Amino acid sequence: MTTPIAHFNGQLLPLDKIFISPLDRGFIFGDGVYEVIPVYEGAMLRGREHFERLQRSMDEIRLDNPHTVDQWMGVVDKLLEHHPGNQSVYIQVTRGVPPKRDHVLPKGLRPTVFMMCYPLASPSKEQVENGVTCITARDFRWEKCHIKSTSLLGNVLARQLSADVGATETIMLRDGMLTEASASNVFVVKDGVVAAPPSDNLILLGITYDLLVQLANEGAVRLDIRPVTEAQLRGADEVWLTSSTKEVLAVTTLDGKPVGSGKPGPLFRRMHALFQEHKARIRGTVAA
Ligand SMILES: Cc1ncc(COP(=O)(O)O)c(C=O)c1O
Repeated sequence: MTTPIAHFNGQLLPLDKIFISPLDRGFIFGDGVYEVIPVYEGAMLRGREHFERLQRSMDEIRLDNPHTVDQWMGVVDKLLEHHPGNQSVYIQVTRGVPPKRDHVLPKGLRPTVFMMCYPLASPSKEQVENGVTCITARDFRWEKCHIKSTSLLGNVLARQLSADVGATETIMLRDGMLTEASASNVFVVKDGVVAAPPSDNLILLGITYDLLVQLANEGAVRLDIRPVTEAQLRGADEVWLTSSTKEVLAVTTLDGKPVGSGKPGPLFRRMHALFQEHKARIRGTVAA
Protein backbone atom coordinates (compact mmCIF):
# COMPACT_ATOMS: atom_id res chain seq x y z
CA MET A 1 0.00 0.00 0.00
CA THR A 2 1.33 3.45 -0.87
CA THR A 3 1.64 5.98 1.92
CA PRO A 4 -1.04 8.70 1.72
CA ILE A 5 0.01 12.25 0.90
CA ALA A 6 -0.46 14.78 3.69
CA HIS A 7 0.21 18.50 4.11
CA PHE A 8 2.85 19.73 6.53
CA ASN A 9 3.82 23.41 6.88
CA GLY A 10 3.21 24.28 3.24
CA GLN A 11 4.48 21.04 1.68
CA LEU A 12 2.76 17.94 0.38
CA LEU A 13 4.62 14.89 1.66
CA PRO A 14 4.05 11.18 2.18
CA LEU A 15 2.55 10.80 5.67
CA ASP A 16 5.43 8.62 6.84
CA LYS A 17 7.96 11.33 5.88
CA ILE A 18 6.47 13.92 8.22
CA PHE A 19 8.27 14.38 11.55
CA ILE A 20 7.21 16.71 14.33
CA SER A 21 9.51 18.00 17.05
CA PRO A 22 8.91 16.65 20.58
CA LEU A 23 9.02 20.30 21.68
CA ASP A 24 6.00 21.13 19.54
CA ARG A 25 3.44 22.70 21.87
CA GLY A 26 0.82 20.41 20.41
CA PHE A 27 2.77 17.41 21.69
CA ILE A 28 3.84 18.91 25.03
CA PHE A 29 0.65 20.78 26.03
CA GLY A 30 -2.07 19.79 23.56
CA ASP A 31 -1.74 23.48 22.60
CA GLY A 32 -3.54 23.43 19.28
CA VAL A 33 -6.87 23.43 17.49
CA TYR A 34 -8.31 21.30 14.74
CA GLU A 35 -11.12 20.68 12.29
CA VAL A 36 -12.55 17.66 10.49
CA ILE A 37 -14.28 18.38 7.18
CA PRO A 38 -16.36 15.79 5.32
CA VAL A 39 -15.79 15.71 1.56
CA TYR A 40 -18.22 14.09 -0.88
CA GLU A 41 -16.73 13.35 -4.30
CA GLY A 42 -14.33 16.26 -4.01
CA ALA A 43 -16.86 18.76 -2.59
CA MET A 44 -16.37 19.95 0.99
CA LEU A 45 -19.54 20.06 3.06
CA ARG A 46 -19.52 23.51 4.69
CA GLY A 47 -15.78 24.00 4.17
CA ARG A 48 -15.91 27.75 4.77
CA GLU A 49 -17.88 27.29 7.98
CA HIS A 50 -15.27 24.84 9.26
CA PHE A 51 -12.48 27.36 8.62
CA GLU A 52 -14.52 30.14 10.22
CA ARG A 53 -14.86 27.94 13.32
CA LEU A 54 -11.10 27.25 13.16
CA GLN A 55 -10.59 31.02 13.25
CA ARG A 56 -12.85 31.32 16.32
CA SER A 57 -10.92 28.52 18.06
CA MET A 58 -7.62 30.24 17.22
CA ASP A 59 -8.91 33.57 18.52
CA GLU A 60 -9.93 31.86 21.78
CA ILE A 61 -6.45 30.41 22.31
CA ARG A 62 -4.66 33.57 21.09
CA LEU A 63 -3.02 31.91 18.10
CA ASP A 64 -2.45 33.85 14.87
CA ASN A 65 -4.01 32.20 11.85
CA PRO A 66 -1.39 31.64 9.13
CA HIS A 67 -4.06 31.57 6.38
CA THR A 68 -7.27 33.26 5.31
CA VAL A 69 -10.36 31.10 4.78
CA ASP A 70 -9.77 31.24 0.99
CA GLN A 71 -6.16 30.16 1.39
CA TRP A 72 -7.21 27.28 3.63
CA MET A 73 -9.77 26.16 1.07
CA GLY A 74 -7.00 26.20 -1.57
CA VAL A 75 -4.71 24.08 0.62
CA VAL A 76 -7.47 21.49 1.06
CA ASP A 77 -8.16 21.44 -2.68
CA LYS A 78 -4.48 20.71 -3.42
CA LEU A 79 -4.50 17.84 -0.92
CA LEU A 80 -7.75 16.49 -2.35
CA GLU A 81 -6.09 16.16 -5.77
CA HIS A 82 -4.36 13.15 -4.19
CA HIS A 83 -7.50 11.81 -2.50
CA PRO A 84 -10.53 11.27 -4.75
CA GLY A 85 -13.91 10.08 -3.51
CA ASN A 86 -15.46 10.63 -0.10
CA GLN A 87 -12.90 11.79 2.44
CA SER A 88 -12.47 13.19 5.93
CA VAL A 89 -9.98 16.03 5.94
CA TYR A 90 -8.25 16.48 9.29
CA ILE A 91 -6.62 19.88 9.89
CA GLN A 92 -4.52 20.66 12.93
CA VAL A 93 -2.73 23.88 13.86
CA THR A 94 -0.52 23.99 16.92
CA ARG A 95 1.34 26.90 18.46
CA GLY A 96 4.62 25.62 17.02
CA VAL A 97 8.03 24.64 18.34
CA PRO A 98 9.56 26.84 21.09
CA PRO A 99 13.18 26.41 22.24
CA LYS A 100 12.10 25.09 25.65
CA ARG A 101 9.08 23.84 27.57
CA ASP A 102 7.34 26.72 29.32
CA HIS A 103 3.62 27.20 29.95
CA VAL A 104 3.76 30.91 29.06
CA LEU A 105 2.72 31.58 25.46
CA PRO A 106 5.93 32.09 23.46
CA LYS A 107 6.10 35.02 21.03
CA GLY A 108 7.01 34.86 17.36
CA LEU A 109 6.58 31.13 16.78
CA ARG A 110 5.50 29.76 13.43
CA PRO A 111 2.39 27.61 13.98
CA THR A 112 2.68 23.98 12.92
CA VAL A 113 0.12 23.16 10.22
CA PHE A 114 -0.75 19.56 9.51
CA MET A 115 -3.48 18.20 7.27
CA MET A 116 -4.31 14.63 6.27
CA CYS A 117 -7.14 12.75 4.58
CA TYR A 118 -8.69 9.41 5.20
CA PRO A 119 -11.70 7.71 3.64
CA LEU A 120 -14.93 9.08 5.10
CA ALA A 121 -16.68 6.46 7.20
CA SER A 122 -20.33 7.46 6.76
CA PRO A 123 -22.98 5.72 8.89
CA SER A 124 -23.93 2.24 7.73
CA LYS A 125 -27.40 1.42 6.38
CA GLU A 126 -27.93 -0.68 9.50
CA GLN A 127 -27.12 2.30 11.78
CA VAL A 128 -29.48 4.56 9.85
CA GLU A 129 -32.32 2.03 9.84
CA ASN A 130 -32.03 0.75 13.40
CA GLY A 131 -30.36 3.62 15.24
CA VAL A 132 -27.52 3.33 17.72
CA THR A 133 -26.97 2.68 21.40
CA CYS A 134 -25.65 5.34 23.78
CA ILE A 135 -24.91 5.70 27.46
CA THR A 136 -24.90 8.81 29.62
CA ALA A 137 -22.14 10.09 31.88
CA ARG A 138 -21.33 13.15 33.92
CA ASP A 139 -19.67 15.83 31.81
CA PHE A 140 -16.32 16.08 33.58
CA ARG A 141 -14.63 18.25 30.93
CA TRP A 142 -13.40 21.83 31.31
CA GLU A 143 -15.43 25.02 30.80
CA LYS A 144 -14.15 25.91 27.33
CA CYS A 145 -15.77 23.13 25.33
CA HIS A 146 -16.64 25.63 22.56
CA ILE A 147 -12.97 25.59 21.49
CA LYS A 148 -12.19 22.76 19.08
CA SER A 149 -8.97 22.02 20.91
CA THR A 150 -6.64 19.09 20.33
CA SER A 151 -6.57 18.70 24.15
CA LEU A 152 -9.19 15.97 23.96
CA LEU A 153 -8.44 13.83 27.00
CA GLY A 154 -11.82 14.59 28.59
CA ASN A 155 -13.63 13.61 25.37
CA VAL A 156 -11.40 10.56 24.90
CA LEU A 157 -12.14 9.28 28.41
CA ALA A 158 -15.84 10.01 27.99
CA ARG A 159 -15.93 8.16 24.66
CA GLN A 160 -14.14 5.17 26.18
CA LEU A 161 -16.98 4.70 28.70
CA SER A 162 -19.34 3.89 25.81
CA ALA A 163 -16.71 1.94 23.87
CA ASP A 164 -16.24 -0.27 26.95
CA VAL A 165 -19.87 -1.41 26.71
CA GLY A 166 -20.04 -1.54 22.91
CA ALA A 167 -22.10 1.67 22.58
CA THR A 168 -21.71 4.33 19.89
CA GLU A 169 -21.50 7.45 22.01
CA THR A 170 -21.44 8.87 25.53
CA ILE A 171 -24.05 11.59 26.04
CA MET A 172 -22.98 13.98 28.76
CA LEU A 173 -24.86 15.75 31.52
CA ARG A 174 -23.58 18.68 33.53
CA ASP A 175 -25.50 19.75 36.65
CA GLY A 176 -28.61 17.95 35.45
CA MET A 177 -28.52 19.49 31.96
CA LEU A 178 -27.71 17.91 28.59
CA THR A 179 -24.51 19.26 27.05
CA GLU A 180 -23.36 17.10 24.12
CA ALA A 181 -21.77 13.72 23.37
CA SER A 182 -18.04 12.96 23.34
CA ALA A 183 -17.71 13.77 19.61
CA SER A 184 -21.22 14.81 18.55
CA ASN A 185 -24.05 17.20 19.34
CA VAL A 186 -27.36 15.92 20.68
CA PHE A 187 -30.94 16.78 19.69
CA VAL A 188 -34.13 15.57 21.39
CA VAL A 189 -37.72 15.42 20.12
CA LYS A 190 -40.88 15.65 22.21
CA ASP A 191 -44.42 15.86 20.85
CA GLY A 192 -43.22 16.83 17.37
CA VAL A 193 -40.85 19.60 18.49
CA VAL A 194 -37.08 19.26 18.13
CA ALA A 195 -34.88 20.79 20.83
CA ALA A 196 -31.14 21.19 21.30
CA PRO A 197 -28.99 22.98 23.89
CA PRO A 198 -27.95 26.49 22.86
CA SER A 199 -24.44 27.32 21.77
CA ASP A 200 -22.39 28.33 24.81
CA ASN A 201 -19.02 27.53 26.37
CA LEU A 202 -20.17 24.06 27.46
CA ILE A 203 -20.63 22.59 23.97
CA LEU A 204 -18.85 22.65 20.66
CA LEU A 205 -21.17 24.32 18.17
CA GLY A 206 -21.19 21.65 15.47
CA ILE A 207 -21.17 22.59 11.82
CA THR A 208 -23.66 19.74 11.39
CA TYR A 209 -25.77 21.14 14.26
CA ASP A 210 -25.98 24.44 12.39
CA LEU A 211 -26.80 22.66 9.15
CA LEU A 212 -29.55 20.67 10.86
CA VAL A 213 -31.04 23.86 12.29
CA GLN A 214 -31.04 25.38 8.78
CA LEU A 215 -32.59 22.26 7.21
CA ALA A 216 -35.23 22.06 9.95
CA ASN A 217 -36.18 25.69 9.37
CA GLU A 218 -36.30 25.25 5.59
CA GLY A 219 -38.31 22.03 6.00
CA ALA A 220 -40.81 23.64 8.41
CA VAL A 221 -39.78 21.26 11.22
CA ARG A 222 -40.56 22.82 14.60
CA LEU A 223 -37.33 23.54 16.44
CA ASP A 224 -36.61 25.08 19.81
CA ILE A 225 -33.02 25.89 20.80
CA ARG A 226 -33.15 25.83 24.60
CA PRO A 227 -31.56 24.13 27.60
CA VAL A 228 -32.54 20.44 27.86
CA THR A 229 -32.81 18.78 31.26
CA GLU A 230 -31.78 15.23 32.07
CA ALA A 231 -35.47 14.34 32.55
CA GLN A 232 -36.30 15.74 29.09
CA LEU A 233 -33.48 13.71 27.55
CA ARG A 234 -34.67 10.52 29.24
CA GLY A 235 -38.33 11.21 28.42
CA ALA A 236 -37.74 12.18 24.77
CA ASP A 237 -39.65 10.53 21.91
CA GLU A 238 -36.49 10.70 19.80
CA VAL A 239 -32.82 11.46 20.46
CA TRP A 240 -30.35 12.20 17.66
CA LEU A 241 -26.59 12.59 17.35
CA THR A 242 -25.05 14.91 14.77
CA SER A 243 -21.47 15.29 13.59
CA SER A 244 -19.49 15.68 10.39
CA THR A 245 -18.96 11.93 10.12
CA LYS A 246 -22.15 10.67 11.81
CA GLU A 247 -24.33 13.10 9.83
CA VAL A 248 -27.58 12.60 11.78
CA LEU A 249 -28.16 9.33 13.60
CA ALA A 250 -31.05 8.21 15.79
CA VAL A 251 -30.27 7.00 19.31
CA THR A 252 -32.66 4.12 19.92
CA THR A 253 -31.27 2.80 23.21
CA LEU A 254 -30.08 5.04 26.04
CA ASP A 255 -28.57 3.50 29.18
CA GLY A 256 -30.12 0.16 28.22
CA LYS A 257 -33.67 1.55 27.79
CA PRO A 258 -35.50 2.13 24.51
CA VAL A 259 -35.82 5.75 23.36
CA GLY A 260 -39.48 6.34 22.46
CA SER A 261 -40.65 3.40 20.35
CA GLY A 262 -37.10 1.98 20.26
CA LYS A 263 -36.95 2.64 16.49
CA PRO A 264 -35.74 5.73 14.60
CA GLY A 265 -38.67 8.13 14.74
CA PRO A 266 -40.56 10.01 12.01
CA LEU A 267 -38.76 13.32 12.56
CA PHE A 268 -35.40 11.56 12.37
CA ARG A 269 -36.41 10.02 9.04
CA ARG A 270 -37.47 13.44 7.77
CA MET A 271 -34.25 15.17 8.86
CA HIS A 272 -32.14 12.30 7.53
CA ALA A 273 -33.83 12.63 4.13
CA LEU A 274 -33.31 16.42 4.13
CA PHE A 275 -29.66 15.87 5.00
CA GLN A 276 -29.15 13.36 2.18
CA GLU A 277 -30.82 15.74 -0.29
CA HIS A 278 -28.51 18.52 0.85
CA LYS A 279 -25.46 16.29 0.39
CA ALA A 280 -26.61 15.30 -3.08
CA ARG A 281 -27.01 18.99 -3.97
CA ILE A 282 -23.46 19.88 -2.91
CA ARG A 283 -22.13 16.91 -4.90
CA GLY A 284 -24.03 18.22 -7.88
CA THR A 285 -25.76 14.89 -8.28
CA VAL A 286 -29.40 13.91 -8.05
CA ALA A 287 -30.62 12.65 -4.68
CA ALA A 288 -30.91 8.87 -4.51
C1 LIG B 1 -17.31 17.45 21.27
C2 LIG B 1 -17.93 17.56 19.92
N1 LIG B 1 -19.16 18.10 19.82
C3 LIG B 1 -19.78 18.22 18.63
C4 LIG B 1 -19.15 17.77 17.46
C5 LIG B 1 -19.87 17.90 16.14
O1 LIG B 1 -19.25 18.90 15.37
P1 LIG B 1 -19.34 18.87 13.77
O2 LIG B 1 -20.78 18.78 13.43
O3 LIG B 1 -18.75 20.17 13.37
O4 LIG B 1 -18.56 17.70 13.31
C6 LIG B 1 -17.89 17.21 17.53
C7 LIG B 1 -17.22 16.76 16.31
O5 LIG B 1 -16.16 16.20 16.32
C8 LIG B 1 -17.24 17.12 18.79
O6 LIG B 1 -16.02 16.60 18.90
